Amino acid sequence: MCGIIGYTGERDASPILIAGLRRLEYRGYDSAGAATCRQGMIDIRKRAGRVHVLEELIDREPLPGVHGISHTRWATHGPATDANAHPHLGGRSQAEVAIVHNGVIENHTALRGELERAGFRFMSETDSEVIAHLIAQALEEEHDLFEAVKRILPRLEGTYGLVAISPAHPGVLIGARMGSPLLVGMGEGEQILASDASAVAPHTRQVVYLQDGEVARLTPSGFDLVHRDRGVVAPRVDRIDWRPDAAELGRHAHYMIKEIREQPATLVDACRGRINRRDATACFGGLNLTPRALRRVRRVVLIGCGTSWHAALVGEYLIERIAHLPVEVEFASEFRYRNAPLDDRTLVFVLSQSGETADALGALREANRLGHPTLAIVNTVGSTIAREAMGGVYLHAGIEVGVASTKAFTAQIAVLTLLALHLGRLRGLSFQEGLAIVEALEEAPGLMQDTLNLEPLANQAAEPIAQARSVLFLGRDLLYPVALEGALKLTEVTYIPAHGYAAAEMKHGPIALVDETTPCVFLAPRCSLYAKTVSTIEEVRARGGIVVAIGTEGDRVLPGLASIFLPIPDAPEVIQPFLCVVPLQMLAYHVGLRLGRDIDKPRNLAKSVTVE
Ligand code: AGP
Repeated sequence: MCGIIGYTGERDASPILIAGLRRLEYRGYDSAGAATCRQGMIDIRKRAGRVHVLEELIDREPLPGVHGISHTRWATHGPATDANAHPHLGGRSQAEVAIVHNGVIENHTALRGELERAGFRFMSETDSEVIAHLIAQALEEEHDLFEAVKRILPRLEGTYGLVAISPAHPGVLIGARMGSPLLVGMGEGEQILASDASAVAPHTRQVVYLQDGEVARLTPSGFDLVHRDRGVVAPRVDRIDWRPDAAELGRHAHYMIKEIREQPATLVDACRGRINRRDATACFGGLNLTPRALRRVRRVVLIGCGTSWHAALVGEYLIERIAHLPVEVEFASEFRYRNAPLDDRTLVFVLSQSGETADALGALREANRLGHPTLAIVNTVGSTIAREAMGGVYLHAGIEVGVASTKAFTAQIAVLTLLALHLGRLRGLSFQEGLAIVEALEEAPGLMQDTLNLEPLANQAAEPIAQARSVLFLGRDLLYPVALEGALKLTEVTYIPAHGYAAAEMKHGPIALVDETTPCVFLAPRCSLYAKTVSTIEEVRARGGIVVAIGTEGDRVLPGLASIFLPIPDAPEVIQPFLCVVPLQMLAYHVGLRLGRDIDKPRNLAKSVTVE
């Protein structure tokens, strides 16, 4: 997802704009740029490539001024080139307006034709550039940047988080939001607009999240906020609740390994204040549904994308087993258009780490449109999904910088385990059964800490896997979604094709892939289906396949069957997902290292995909 920063104040803007882009780098991008206004002029620097390329350019050719914008672009229309990088300039002389934009303008072709016929020359292949020229065209009549921006917004079909500046309006930033996040960072004598709180955290903790349709006018002394249709809006001031250094790398080599190692603490944080030992149940502050309403629920739908969808699959097994409630897991992108028949006793949850994923937001809005009680399980406080849901549960995982999600997955499973317990204890789960789950959850962080010691073995297992053309990940029951997650991690971070399967499915086709060049990673801890999983391992071995097995420490069978055996602590099945996912994450990390991949910002990926 693109990153946006705008600054107006008394300090030199350029270092603030660049430092802000660095804090947004984790979201994935392919070009970067900045522009400042000074003495009636716009200065602009932009390049394809990483932020450091832009920084080196600005070191050579400084960007003066105390008022400017910057952007990291994740290409949607047009390749990653200098010309397609943002900011984009607008006006007949290409100097009246500069804008940065996140989102997709779906009617950009028609607008471009109209503007070209009116004499505006385009310098890029992007959809975003039409915004700059539209504002410049409106300025020819409006003479006020705020009014000009408000005037052109109804012409834009699609989504935007945009910031505009003009040399004729010194010190003024205009921000507008429709479907792509934008927030105001409120400073003393300076104001910041950004697409993500992590960019403003070093400067202020007071933020105002713009809602769809809102437009803000910022000057160093403050800001005005209006809704483009409803007029003046009373801003709701939020506070950034995590420490600015939470996004720092510290002693770790990469954010991904830092966040893998944070998971025992993540698990504690996700459960904090939500375990009720006295009643052997879980409690949530934000479900906004009474026990009576929850007992009326006849079906649960869990919706997500990518890793969040894998967490939802774990939730399906947990809720069905513990609460005996039917669960449907949906890809958000599919749910929003397939018109699924849901009755009025269906409870919908949308899972999203970022809370800004366009597909997940679209699914939430579709469920809301249908009138279903829709809840969000989200990490990012104040995110769009969090705000538009009827209620929900925050992950409290802290900022997750690595594009490959790790600790958020753990936090999502923790919340889903608690939810299953909560629903179960409303539906006949006994006190003893509930207490067993409570005690397993309380034990889990310590056992997860133990699994971090598997890193040397994961590194050893990375050797054969780094050479592989493809890799299979296999698990059963609760560990089938974890196998899928392990495959996604490896694919995302290393670009090696990896496939996750329910282990028994191996013999129904995937076994055709098995030979001495195809590593098969099995999740085979001591559990009710252990023997069956071992049978599948034997089938792979019989065909010369390389086996990497994650199993319970002390297992005397697996070490003889596997080239590498990674022992996890013995644990109740309900918490085995927490323990099995850690070695898989570390495996992906170490294979990525061996292959020299960009671990925290894998190619083509974005941390939050805010386009459909
Ligand atoms: C996870 O490693 C991926 N980066 C990706 O699949 C991600 O889980 C997906 O885009 C959903 O993001 P969200 O949880 O922020 O909605």
